[in-house]
Amino acid sequence: MFQNLAPAAVDPILSVAEAFRADPRPHKLDLGVGVYRDANGNTPVMTAVRYAEQQLAQTQTSKSYVGLGGNMRFSRVVTQLILGNAEPTGWFTMQTPGASGGLRLLADLIAASRPNATVWISDPSYVNHAPIMRAAGLRVASYPYLDVASGGLRREAFFEAVAGLGQDDVLLLHGCCHNPSGVDLEIDDWQQLASMVSQQGFLPFVDLAYQGFGDGLEQDAAGLRLLADASEEMLVVYSCSKHFGLYRERTGAALVKSAGSKQVQGKLFELARRSYTMPPDHGAEVVAMIIESAELTALWHSELYAMRQRVQSTRHQLADALSTNGMEAEYLCHHKGMFSMLPLSEASIARLRDDAAIYIVAGGRINLAGLAPNKIDTLAEAIVRLAA
Ligand code: LMR
Repeated sequence: MFQNLAPAAVDPILSVAEAFRADPRPHKLDLGVGVYRDANGNTPVMTAVRYAEQQLAQTQTSKSYVGLGGNMRFSRVVTQLILGNAEPTGWFTMQTPGASGGLRLLADLIAASRPNATVWISDPSYVNHAPIMRAAGLRVASYPYLDVASGGLRREAFFEAVAGLGQDDVLLLHGCCHNPSGVDLEIDDWQQLASMVSQQGFLPFVDLAYQGFGDGLEQDAAGLRLLADASEEMLVVYSCSKHFGLYRERTGAALVKSAGSKQVQGKLFELARRSYTMPPDHGAEVVAMIIESAELTALWHSELYAMRQRVQSTRHQLADALSTNGMEAEYLCHHKGMFSMLPLSEASIARLRDDAAIYIVAGGRINLAGLAPNKIDTLAEAIVRLAA
């Protein structure tokens, strides 16, 4: 049966994690997969999550099925977090198995409704965007985004590409903390997109996976909300992996704004039923419990604030350390969230791995949230030494 299988595609992020795990060198440094690590290099269970889990273990009375849409209290609280309103008109929210599951579900929804649609992704974009869209049978094209030389946005080229979009086009954007570049749209850019969407009628699709890692929970959703107000139809996919530290619990959501909300809901449930039926409940219940408790919410806010501060200060320290070693990297201080891209060739990335046990994703993406303070100087020195 399986002799004719084509070789599996190598995932550029998870393959780095795999190679890192297999490396016996004790000084190895993983800047690959996007997980937060504290100053000791650990990815701890957040205290708010721990408290909610303890409470859940004592009070949960059943593990019976939930509905196809998952945990409805979760859907309500994340709608509030994303849109600033728990019951916005025209929106339907359902829980999904992580944001990747949500991306696939929404891609299937687009394909079911507009099979000839083109999904436009940023150049560069999250490595799983194109494969997921293509797996659903959709065409993928890219729009200019990152200017590698300056570490900034190719604003003019970006808007020129968006100006060409129409009703068969889906514009996939990163709500904040762009993955992999860290280069975010400014609020004026979102405003401009909002006026373009109402004139041109393309479908905005926002991936919000790092809310609270940029400037704060509200600030990081501000652009998306502007676009939501201006759009008659819109898609949003959401992840609780990073800001609740729930990575392996696969806790995400898909949101759809449309005039035919009931019809959309029916189709989404059908799509979910024939692929995974319903998402895992644990992470969603934990998120609902945290947001429904003022005390746990305050604790979560303070933990998220500390994570954001640590990543921001790592950005400044790495820029300083690179500059001390003779490499100008001030742009790192303007980027948001976990990632930035260093202008490294594939040969330099291989040298950093082979000679210094430093693991970086192909293309030069580094996860600053994975960098302990005592490793910053070593990293900067190695980059300058091996990147030539
Ligand atoms: C990442 O970009 O490193 C994360 O979003 C992990 C993933 O699922 O790819």
